[in-house]
Amino acid sequence: MKAIELTAPSLSALRQTELPDPQAGPGEVLLRLRAATLNYLDVAIATGAFPVAGYPMVPVADGAGEIAALGEGVQGFAVGERVIPHFMPNWQGGAITAHNVAALRGVNLPGSLAEYVAVPASSLVAMPAHLDFVQGAALPIAATTAWNAVRSAQLRPGSVVVLLGTGGVSIFALQFAKASGATVILASSSDDKLERARQLGADMLINYRATPAWDEEVLTLTGGRGADLVVETVGGANFARSLNAAAVGGAVFTVGFIGGTAAAIDLLPVIVKALRIVGNNTGSVADLSEAARAIAAHRIVPVIDRVFDIGDTRAAYAELAAGGRHFGKLAIAH
Ligand SMILES: NC(=O)c1ccc[n+]([C@@H]2O[C@H](COP(=O)([O-])OP(=O)(O)OC[C@H]3O[C@@H](n4cnc5c(N)ncnc54)[C@H](OP(=O)(O)O)[C@@H]3O)[C@@H](O)[C@H]2O)c1
Repeated sequence: MKAIELTAPSLSALRQTELPDPQAGPGEVLLRLRAATLNYLDVAIATGAFPVAGYPMVPVADGAGEIAALGEGVQGFAVGERVIPHFMPNWQGGAITAHNVAALRGVNLPGSLAEYVAVPASSLVAMPAHLDFVQGAALPIAATTAWNAVRSAQLRPGSVVVLLGTGGVSIFALQFAKASGATVILASSSDDKLERARQLGADMLINYRATPAWDEEVLTLTGGRGADLVVETVGGANFARSLNAAAVGGAVFTVGFIGGTAAAIDLLPVIVKALRIVGNNTGSVADLSEAARAIAAHRIVPVIDRVFDIGDTRAAYAELAAGGRHFGKLAIAH
C-alpha cells in the first residue's frame, strides 16, 4: 500500500513509501483510510518536541475511512461502513489510566497517512451521516477534547466560555458551547478570523495582539465576573491570564502548550476563587462517540480550513507549523 513515513524528527523527513498491506487480526477491522487531519501534536512529533517509539513511523493521529474487511469475531460492523478510528484505541470509557493512554495512533501505533490500517473494532465510532471523510477525520482529538471541556463545565444558557485562538480545539469548543446556549468570548490574533468566529456564533471578540491583557478585557466584558470556563489551549505565560479571566468557582480546562509547558502562576486567584484547574488528555472512545452524537444532533459541520492531497503532506505540515495561519482544521485527503 502507499503510505507516508516520518523517518526522523524533522519536517523534511516525511517521505512517500510502499508498505505491506496490513491484515485485520481477531477483533480488528481493516480500514481503507480516506482522510486525515493534522493536530499540533503531529507537528510536535515531526519536530522532535514530542517523543515517539521509533522511526520510520506512519504519522498522523486523526483519520476517517471505510471498513474494507472484518477480522475474526468482529460483530456490529459491516464492510463499507464509514467510521472514525479513535486516537487512543485502548481507552474505551471511564477514567483515564496509564494503560488507556499508552497506545496512540500516529505516535506508537500506525497513523492515518496510509491507504490501510488495522485497528480494534472497539476503537471505532460511526461517522455522523452529514459529514464527509475529511470532516469526520477532524473529530478524534479536537472534537473529543472540546466536548470534554464543555461537558466538564456543565454549561447552561448564560454560562460564559473563553476560547483562545481559532485552531481545531477552540473552533469545536465554540460550536459545542453555542449548542449549549453559552456566551462565548473568543480571542484571536487576527480581525479576519474574529469575524469568521463571529459568523460561527462567538458573542464577544478580543484581538489579543491589539489587547495583550485579554484577561482584563474578559473581566470588563463580563462586568467583573469572569468566565465559567476558560479552555486553555495556549499554556506558558498565558496560563496566568486564564486564571485571572476565570470567575469565582470557574474552571480552567488545561490542554495546550503552544506557548510552552512552563508557567509561573500566582496561587492566590486559584485559592480565593476556588478555581478548578482541570487537566485533560484527549478522551475515550465513549467521549468521541458522545461528541459525534452531539455533532449529529446539532448538525455541526467541522470547520476545515484547507484540504491537501497526500502528495503535499509536507506542505500541510508546514502550514500548521507556521502557526496561526489556519482557522479550524487542516486536512489531508487520500
Ligand atoms: N491535552 C489535550 O487533550 C489536547 C487535545 C487537543 C489539543 N491539545 C493541545 O491544544 C493546543 C491547541 O491545539 P489545536 O489542535 O487546536 O491547535 P491549532 O489548530 O494549531 O491552533 C492553535 C491556534 O492557537 C492560536 N494561538 C497561537 N498562539 C496563541 C497565543 N499566544 N494566544 C492565544 N492563541 C494563540 C492561533 O489562533 P489565532 O491565529 O486565531 O490566534 C492558532 O491557530 C495544542 O497545544 C495541542 O497540542 C491538547
